[in-house]
Amino acid sequence: MPGLTIGDTVPDLATDTTHGRIRLHHYIGNGWVILFSHPGDFTPVCTTELGKMAAYAKEFSQRGVKLLGLSCDDVQSHKDWIKDIEAYTPGCKVDYPIIADPKRELIKQLNMVDPDEKDSEGNQVPSRALHIVGPDKKIKLSFLYPASTGRNMDEVLRALDSLMKAQKFKVATPANWKPGDPVVISPSVTNEQAKEMFPQGYKTADLPSKKEYLRFTNV
Ligand code: BEZ
Repeated sequence: MPGLTIGDTVPDLATDTTHGRIRLHHYIGNGWVILFSHPGDFTPVCTTELGKMAAYAKEFSQRGVKLLGLSCDDVQSHKDWIKDIEAYTPGCKVDYPIIADPKRELIKQLNMVDPDEKDSEGNQVPSRALHIVGPDKKIKLSFLYPASTGRNMDEVLRALDSLMKAQKFKVATPANWKPGDPVVISPSVTNEQAKEMFPQGYKTADLPSKKEYLRFTNV
């Protein structure tokens, strides 16, 4: 069976976290959630990642986005580890819940298993997976990194801003886009519609094909 991917509804799992028991759909509510997994507690890259996520928490909450971590150790281990994370990244507070998945059941359902990495007892461990889940509880974007590569939170934020922009204005964001840059008008929008939808105007790239498909605007 293919794993959970973009467009799929996340399963309504009930799970223990550092904030008590939660149901995934209830936690998502009508908002956006970033669900991100880590190979294990008390590991070096993960310690830096969870601290960075906490350091960016204000940026996410300003956009109405909640965070939810996952690691395959128990809740007490997570709570002990949080002290290290907060000490390593001064000023950060790990206020978001971290799911405990000691039986490694959830990582399979959430398509977060690293196919190669095993812990010292030979158990499967999570990859550095990250799902951005929309208010409809569907996955809008997924990152899948191996244990050896820590994630870049600026890129998570940038991707989130792109998703939100695309949803609000029926646009797409070009390569290396960052907030404030021009966006492109979706191919499904005709020129007639574009004139109405974007009264501020748009510029069409003059391409050898003379096909008018690369249209930039500012929203
Ligand atoms: C880490 O978080 O540093 C890590 C965890 C598992 C394998 C490799 C690195």
